[in-house]
Amino acid sequence: MTEHEITAQIVAATDLDALEAVRIALLGKSGSISALLKTLGGMTPEQRQAEGPRINGLRVAATDAIAARKAQLEGAALEARLATERLDMSLPAPATPRGSVHPVSQVMDELAEIFADMGFAVATGPEIEDQWHNFTALNMPETHPARAMHDTFYLEAAGGEEAKVLRTHTSPVQIRTMTSQAPPIRIIAPGRVYRSDSDATHTPMFHQIEGLVVDKGIHLGHLKWTLETFLKAFFERDDIVLRLRPSYFPFTEPSVEVDVGFSIEKGKRVLGGTGGWMELLGSGMVHPRVLRACGIDPDEYSGFAFGVGVDRLAMLKYGMDDLRAFFDGDNRWLKHYGFGALDVPTLSAGVGA
Ligand code: PHE
Repeated sequence: MTEHEITAQIVAATDLDALEAVRIALLGKSGSISALLKTLGGMTPEQRQAEGPRINGLRVAATDAIAARKAQLEGAALEARLATERLDMSLPAPATPRGSVHPVSQVMDELAEIFADMGFAVATGPEIEDQWHNFTALNMPETHPARAMHDTFYLEAAGGEEAKVLRTHTSPVQIRTMTSQAPPIRIIAPGRVYRSDSDATHTPMFHQIEGLVVDKGIHLGHLKWTLETFLKAFFERDDIVLRLRPSYFPFTEPSVEVDVGFSIEKGKRVLGGTGGWMELLGSGMVHPRVLRACGIDPDEYSGFAFGVGVDRLAMLKYGMDDLRAFFDGDNRWLKHYGFGALDVPTLSAGVGA
């Protein structure tokens, strides 16, 4: 085998795969040059002196020729790609899938905007909550029947500890706020809550927004004014009328259920007027026992609290009738009811976006 024969084989390779095959045939484990190199071991010193440089010369020549051919073939492949692959920068951009802001997010932003204007800060708490915050401190001791009413999801208890729960309402954020800051307090707490319940108007996870005000001299009139102002701003109508009914929650005394008046316009139910009433939210004056559990003196301070379903507010304002669709992730629904990224609610532009 001469050097000439070897380079002829290499140059004859017309693509990278063929070149690799030639390389293996020459220099691979059982390649012809490798076989020649192995014969050196069995030679006499004189033979080796003559053959050694020749065989090694073949190896070097083959290696160099392969590298050169490889560079050549790669260059040609790149040229060919550059010649065929063209990007027409004048083409219109392809249609990209575009997301939308979920009505729940939009309504939460609207609520934060309305309450910020009234001087409320936003507070948060964990969705995996301990029973003290979710129940006990809210005047629901272990034997309290209201614990059963909530269809609570209990988590498996870790070694000897009390089981945690998925919070059944945003009210534990009241406790977290009152135990971590001193009055005056003015917060809203929006977030996810969980109850084992499922039908057209209930889903196992839904959203609430809690409101809490604690200060000296707070009374029911402050609660009513706050709710009226909030609902007028939210529904963007001045004829929103509230009806307060006595009710019961363990953590408020007195407790007040709030209905909102509606009327029928063109065969559709719209909020405003007093043609009928629908139940909207729960509220009341913070129970003295709750204040005390948080280290606040009920003889010095009083407060009001309310809790309202965010999903329900969204349904009433934007006209959806099945709550389950909120969480199906159906693109057609999201496209229809979703909001654009720039529909940021502001009071001056109308929070309805
Ligand atoms: N936490 C109550 C519920 O989920 C609502 C509520 C909040 C009632 C605050 C009164 C005061 O039903």
